Amino acid sequence: MLMFATRIIQFSVDFKYRIDQQTLTQDFGSGHGKGKPLCMATYKNFFHSYRMPHEDVDRLLPQSRRSNHIVVASCNQFYILRLGQEPLDNPYKCDAGAQLGASMVFDQLLRIYRVSREHARRELNGNAADKMPRVGLFTTENRKTWAKLHKQLSHLSGDDATNINSLRQIEDCLFVMCLDSLVTQNGDKASDARDDQTDLEQAANVILTGAGASKFTANRWFDKFLQVIVGRDGICGINIEHSASEGITVLRFLEEFVEFLRANPIANAHTNNTASAFDFGSTTRAQCTESITSPAYVEPKSPSALLSETDTITPLTWRLDEELRASLDEAEARAEQLVRNFSLRILEFQQFGRAFIKSQSLSPDAFVQLALQYTFYKLHGQLVCTYESASLRQFRLGRVDNIRANTCEAYEWIEAMLECKRAEPLKWSERAQAAFIKAITRQVEILRYTITGGGPDNHLLALKELARVRFDELPDLFLDNSYREHVNFRLSTSQLPTDSGITVGYGAVVHDGYGCSYNPREDRITFCVSSFVDCEQTSSSRFASTLVESLCEMRDLCESRQRFDKQGRRRASFKAT
Ligand code: COA
Repeated sequence: MLMFATRIIQFSVDFKYRIDQQTLTQDFGSGHGKGKPLCMATYKNFFHSYRMPHEDVDRLLPQSRRSNHIVVASCNQFYILRLGQEPLDNPYKCDAGAQLGASMVFDQLLRIYRVSREHARRELNGNAADKMPRVGLFTTENRKTWAKLHKQLSHLSGDDATNINSLRQIEDCLFVMCLDSLVTQNGDKASDARDDQTDLEQAANVILTGAGASKFTANRWFDKFLQVIVGRDGICGINIEHSASEGITVLRFLEEFVEFLRANPIANAHTNNTASAFDFGSTTRAQCTESITSPAYVEPKSPSALLSETDTITPLTWRLDEELRASLDEAEARAEQLVRNFSLRILEFQQFGRAFIKSQSLSPDAFVQLALQYTFYKLHGQLVCTYESASLRQFRLGRVDNIRANTCEAYEWIEAMLECKRAEPLKWSERAQAAFIKAITRQVEILRYTITGGGPDNHLLALKELARVRFDELPDLFLDNSYREHVNFRLSTSQLPTDSGITVGYGAVVHDGYGCSYNPREDRITFCVSSFVDCEQTSSSRFASTLVESLCEMRDLCESRQRFDKQGRRRASFKAT
């Protein structure tokens, strides 16, 4: 676990160096935006970015900071790990990841791991002096609540700057590294409630939510843009605070890390494998081979004795009054409830992938969007406002807009499909085939105008925000029920394509909705479907199984179809949309 964490830190430092030096290779668009250079600006938000809670609107703290430390979360405690001299100037000159001593980083991580573990052990044994408040839980609170608590925390005890200093260290750090190393006595049993989930789903749940206060949710700081999570049981992933950048840039970061790891494999510490690509030095190598993760391991020294052996790690300390302690208890209860209410299904659809869809001269993205519409309609009897993120990075400082998918054409096609299904025997009608082509053509049209800046959503949002500044009251348009429905995204979707074996997911954005990311690969499509357990209408499992049925029906429809033109007229040869 710690060697893996070391690799990520080395890689991140190198990645940051390339961002700062503007030597990160240029990103180019694919598919409909093929070959277009993409704006690289949001990479600058990768490190240091911090979403500061605010009672009105959260603020994204500037990335101009020059600190050179990360914060390591272990056993619900936070430690500063300095990577070099501060302030961060031109820290690593060249080949930053390689210059950053692996042995130094590993050594510090090992100490943090031991110190935090010892603290946690003593705390469990009832040693009040070792009780550390699980302050990370505050960041799971409703943003307005957290904003108030943040103020209380910062202004506690007048001149005593303990809390302000600790908060500042987290705000300023490059990223938070979460070592999910030790759970409380009952913690391991807490996951049993999720027996029906696959290993991958459980891992994704840990990465997205921390899996509850009795597991790792307190071992997080959700305001930070980048949290790298490394678990003792091999779980590894990243949790991002979305306001600073998009999933696509984070995917690149992860894909490059996977390549870096392949080039620099981790030697098995329990074998005599000396062929490691990294030189850990003799002293540290001996420490590496100590089986600190084995249950038989006995920690010989007190946390303070261990801390005194190093000056590069510093624990973050907190002062909490009775009121804040009570708020922390409330945050814990709410976090537990939130985690339990989150339902995630990862669907590995293996019947076909983009190769088949392309072979039908169809856009894979539009195909998947229609499959999602079809599925939602089957389950809920209606179409709903749908969000699909469209990258606007072909424009300077571009972020995303929304590709909408609940079109009249989709509705007509779905009606035609359902009509076929009601007939005996089932036969896909020409009406359904023609309607399908119309629906897909419409979807591609929306996709195209949105990625080229013609989507309505950002423009409307800009008008609304301007109106907020200019007028005392919002214009009627934005108060109308139809506008509310227009932005009530019961289906929040996003394509995150990768061949590196990385799975990406997120939550639903409204209570009665679904989150659904998808990764169309050549021969399969991976979906991450999420919803809320306490919503009676929705179910991630039902959505996933219905989606399989929808996709298979669409394949059958394609295989049975004649070639139609854009107006739905039959023709001998079909030209790609
Ligand atoms: N016939 C045959 N092939 C076709 C086709 C057709 N009619 N239409 C498209 N294709 C091909 C494309 O050429 C492309 O091929 P390539 O992989 O060899 O380049 C492939 O199918 C995929 O195209 P498509 O599925 O239509 O989508 P796209 O790649 O253009 O992507 C978006 C569309 C909207 C997903 C993309 O533009 C985008 O914005 N991505 C960013 C999403 C994002 O931000 N996600 C993260 C949010 S946090």
